[in-house]
Amino acid sequence: MYQESSNAVIKHLVNILRDTNTKPHEFRSYIEQIAKLLVCEAFNTHETFSKTITTWQGPLNTTFIDEKKLVFIPILRAGEPMLNGVFEIFKHAQSGFLAMKRDETTAKSHLFYEKLPDLKGKIVVLLDPMVATGGSLSDGIDVVKQHEPKEIITLNIIGSSHGVQRVNDLHSDIHMYIAQIDEKLNENNYICPGLGDAGDRAFNTL
Ligand code: PRP
Ligand code: URA
Repeated sequence: MYQESSNAVIKHLVNILRDTNTKPHEFRSYIEQIAKLLVCEAFNTHETFSKTITTWQGPLNTTFIDEKKLVFIPILRAGEPMLNGVFEIFKHAQSGFLAMKRDETTAKSHLFYEKLPDLKGKIVVLLDPMVATGGSLSDGIDVVKQHEPKEIITLNIIGSSHGVQRVNDLHSDIHMYIAQIDEKLNENNYICPGLGDAGDRAFNTL
C-alpha cells in the first residue's frame, strides 16, 4: 500500500526542492530534512517494545522502536542524502547499499552494486527520492525480498501516479511513504512537474 503525506511542512520543503534556484548543497540538505520527516510518518504507529530505563525520578518502563531491527538501504546515487537524514533519527540502525542506474533511453534500471547486511527478519527501509516509471524501486524491492526481511517500507519524495501505482501493483505487501504524488511522466519518463534529475541536482552534475 502507499500513503502520500498530507503534512504542510513536507509539502513546503518539496516545493523548495522544485525551485531551480535551490543550490546543490541546499538540495541535499532539504532531502535530508524531508527524509527525517518521512521516517517519522512511517514509524508513527509502528510496533514498539517496552524497556525499563533509569530516569531522574527512578525506573520508568516505557516504549522504544527496535533500532537494531532497522536496515536503511539507499538506492544510489540520489538516495544517499536521505540516508544521512534517517540516521540522524535512528543512530543505531544498520545500512546496506544498492546502486542502480536507469537507462535513459529504455527507462529500465540496471543494478551494478549490491552490499547488504543480513536482512532476514529485519525491517528494511528503502530510500529513493524519485519514483518515475517505478522500475528502479520495484527492482530494488525484488532484490531485498530475496533476503527474507520481516517487512519492507519505502520512503520516497516525489512519485508519479503511474510509477507509484505500478510499484503498488507489483508489491502490494510493502508500505510506501511518499511526500508528494505528481500527475504525470513526460515523453522522457521524467516526473512532471517533479524537480528534474534528483541525482544531478544533488551532486551538481547538471
Ligand atoms: C533516478 C532516481 C530513481 C530512478 C527513478 O535515478 O533516483 O532511482 O531514477 O526512475 P524510475 O522510477 O523510472 O526507475 P537514476 O537512475 O537517474 O540514477 P542517479 O540516482 O544516479 O541519478
Ligand atoms: N529520475 C529523476 O531524478 N527524476 C525524474 O523525474 C525521473 C527519474
